[in-house]
Amino acid sequence: MTHRPEGPVGERNSRDGAPVGPPVPSLFEPLDLGAVRTDNRVLMAPLTRMRATVPGDVPNELMRDYYVQRASAGLMISEGTQISPEGKGYMDTPGIHDAAQVAGWRAVTDAVHEAGGLIAAQLWHVGRVSHESFHDGGLPVSASAQPYRNRTSVRGEDGRPVRVACPTPRALGLHEIPRVIEDYRRATVNARAAGFDLVEIHGAHGYLLHQFLAADSNQRADEYGGSLAARARLMLEVTDAVIDAWSADRVAVRISPIGAFNGTEDPEGADAGLFVAGELGRRGLAFLHLSEPDWAGGPELDDDYRRALREAHAGPIVGAGNYDLAKAERLLGAGLVDAVAFGRSFIANPDLPRRLSDGLPLNPQRPESFYGGGAEGYTDYPAYDVA
Ligand SMILES: Cc1cc2nc3c(=O)[nH]c(=O)nc-3n(C[C@H](O)[C@H](O)[C@H](O)COP(=O)(O)O)c2cc1C
Repeated sequence: MTHRPEGPVGERNSRDGAPVGPPVPSLFEPLDLGAVRTDNRVLMAPLTRMRATVPGDVPNELMRDYYVQRASAGLMISEGTQISPEGKGYMDTPGIHDAAQVAGWRAVTDAVHEAGGLIAAQLWHVGRVSHESFHDGGLPVSASAQPYRNRTSVRGEDGRPVRVACPTPRALGLHEIPRVIEDYRRATVNARAAGFDLVEIHGAHGYLLHQFLAADSNQRADEYGGSLAARARLMLEVTDAVIDAWSADRVAVRISPIGAFNGTEDPEGADAGLFVAGELGRRGLAFLHLSEPDWAGGPELDDDYRRALREAHAGPIVGAGNYDLAKAERLLGAGLVDAVAFGRSFIANPDLPRRLSDGLPLNPQRPESFYGGGAEGYTDYPAYDVA
C-alpha cells in the first residue's frame, strides 16, 4: 500500500529549513482521515451511476473497472448504496444488504486496493425519494406522511431511466425505528466484510436522515420530531450504531444542511448543520462531509458559515460542490476545508488528481450518460495521454 508515507505533512512551505509561518496544506499532500492516510486531498464524491446488475442490485465488473480507473483519488466514496430493500429509490442502484452484493463489492474493493486506492461505502436510505414499484406496490417511508412533490427514476421499457412522481410516503412508526437503525448497523458489518476502508453515512440531499433532520419534512410528535435535538436524533443514533459496528475512525457523515435537495429545504438548516457538526465532532469521526448547495441551484456558502462549522466540528471537514482547483486551494489555504470531493469532474476525468496537479486540460462531461446505461459515458473517458 502506498498510503502510509513517512514524514510529516504540510512542511513544503519551509525553505532552507527555516519555518515561514504556518504551513499551507496543498491538495496534493497526504491527509489523515481517521484510520486511513490518503495520498492526496482530491477525493472522489459519491456518484450514483445506476449501472448495478438487476435483479439483485449487485455490483459488477463494469463498476469494478470504473472505480479502478479512478483509484488515484485520495479516497473514493462509493455511489449511494442502499442498506435495505426499503432504502432503494432509483433504478439499478447497488445494495449492501445481502451476500451477493457483499461479494460483488468485495471484487471492487480488492481491485481498488490492488491499484493503490482507498474506497468508502456510502450507506444510503432514500426515504420518500422512491416509488411503489421498488416496494411491491407499498409506499416509501419517511419521517412524516406529508404530500411530497418530487420525482425519481425507474427503468423504462428501453432500459433507460424514466422520471416518475414520488408518492406521498407513509410515516415510519416509532416501533420501526430500531429496525431501521439495525439496517444501518448490518450494512456496516457488510461493508467491512466487503473490504471497504470506511463507511460514509448519507445524511444529505433530502434522503431519509435529512427528512428527519429538516423542520419542513419532519412533523412528528414523538421523540424523533419537534426540537432540533429530537429531529437530529435518528442521524445521531444511526451514527452511534455504525460506530458500534466498526469504529469512529472508520465512519464519516455527509450533510447538506443548506439549500433545496429533492424537495427538502430546511428553514432551520444553518442551525441544524452547526448542531450536528458539533455532535458528530464529539464522536471522533474520520471526517464530516459538507455537500454545498450551489451546484444544485442553491446559494453559495459564505466563509462565515464555513468558519462557524469549523469551530463547531472537532475533526476533518471535506467540502464538495462546484469546486475547481482555485476554489479548492483557496478554502484549503484558509483552513476552512481539509480535503475536497470532486463529483462531475471525476466522472469525466479518471486521472483527475494528476490533471489538477499538472495543470492538464479536463475532458468535456457528457451529462446524458451520468445516470444509467453501460460502458459509454462511464468507463470510456480517457486518461490524459502525454503523447
Ligand atoms: C451523477 C451524479 C450522481 C450523484 N450521486 C450522489 C450520491 O449517490 N450520493 C451523494 O451524496 N451525492 C451524489 N451526488 C452529488 C455529488 O456527490 C456532488 O456533491 C455534486 O456532484 C457536486 O459536486 P461537483 O460540482 O464536483 O460535481 C451526485 C451528483 C451527480 C452529478
